[in-house]
Amino acid sequence: MSTSTPRIAVCPGSFDPMTMGHVDIIERAARLYDRVVVAVAINRDKTPLFPVDERVAIVQEVFADRSPVEVDTFDGLLVEYARHKHASVIVRGLRAVSDFEYEFQMALMNRHLAPEIETTFMMPAEQYTYISSRLIKEVFALGGQIDGLVPPTVEQRLRARRQDRPIPHARLT
Ligand code: PNS
Repeated sequence: MSTSTPRIAVCPGSFDPMTMGHVDIIERAARLYDRVVVAVAINRDKTPLFPVDERVAIVQEVFADRSPVEVDTFDGLLVEYARHKHASVIVRGLRAVSDFEYEFQMALMNRHLAPEIETTFMMPAEQYTYISSRLIKEVFALGGQIDGLVPPTVEQRLRARRQDRPIPHARLT
């Protein structure tokens, strides 16, 4: 039996909605760390398309019984949440150079706030490098195909929402 400290990683994000790019990164993290906490941001200053409970339900459905992945929500500073979970690592996906500046700033600010927590970046499989939650919402709202780009439950939930009420343009971002 190993007595070493378990390596806990937090995968934070808005996940509005979860895409196959997110799934790919979380699966990669799950191969490297003992526990992977998918941390869904409550983001009080954004108006998400999916309420936080539904974003959590989607992650739970996609990763049902897939150890070592678990899901939670967080509010406030990410590094405080990571400390609270005893995580030593924050995992973020890096798709293209365009992601770099934002991620670089966030990683360095998080390091300033919590030097003991490392940020690691992982690249998703090539077929997911152009996917973002924003583009998924836009393409779906305009009638485009998104199958294979999001987990099936996300597509079903988007369809159900479209029947209830069309997605307003302001919610696309
Ligand atoms: O999926 P997203 O929207 O790119 O995720 C961004 C997120 C939620 C990880 C980021 O906004 C965040 O960490 N928010 C928590 C507040 C915080 O800690 N801000 C300082 C980060 S430098």
